Amino acid sequence: MCGCARSHLESKGVSVNLIVVSDMDVSHCRDCDGCRDGMCVLDDEMDVIYDAFATSDMLILACPIHFSGPSSLIKLVMDRFQPYWFDETLPHPSHAVALLCGGSPEPRFDATIYTMRAFAITTGMEWKGQYCLGDTDSGVDVERIRSGVSSFLDGVIGDGKG
Ligand SMILES: Cc1cc2nc3c(=O)[nH]c(=O)nc-3n(C[C@H](O)[C@H](O)[C@H](O)COP(=O)(O)O)c2cc1C
Repeated sequence: MCGCARSHLESKGVSVNLIVVSDMDVSHCRDCDGCRDGMCVLDDEMDVIYDAFATSDMLILACPIHFSGPSSLIKLVMDRFQPYWFDETLPHPSHAVALLCGGSPEPRFDATIYTMRAFAITTGMEWKGQYCLGDTDSGVDVERIRSGVSSFLDGVIGDGKG
């Protein structure tokens, strides 16, 4: 889904920064309150994500459903945005969407959407919707994903010039 999103957006002239959290060293929020008067005090690769977040127009959150919720990896990253809870003026994309997939025929996407929307509200982004793909454990049709993701993104960005 991420690959389809990237190639479609790039074909529209949109610059894409794909961040794969599983390849990164990102620690859990410790609720130390160190960010109460500034940014996070932990020293890890979260800085790369903060920088991308501060300089992007749109955020696409992408993850599989795990036990009817977001994957722990993406939740880990969202939790590290606690500095935005204390300072709502921190720079952020103007809007956010999600690409979600689940293995069962009818995955429960609702808890993940709820969590991601709460994250968007806290960080000051307008939620523009989500593309949800179920039944992936029965096999994936890449052309179906490409077409579904492309149509969804076209509905969000229009002609890509906005
Ligand atoms: C730990 C774990 C929990 C999962 N829980 C769910 C679930 O609650 N509902 C569901 O529909 N699929 C569930 N799945 C299946 C994944 O959502 C599905 O295989 C998905 O396509 C994986 O995407 P990925 O290949 O990008 O990781 C779970 C998979 C794992 C590994």
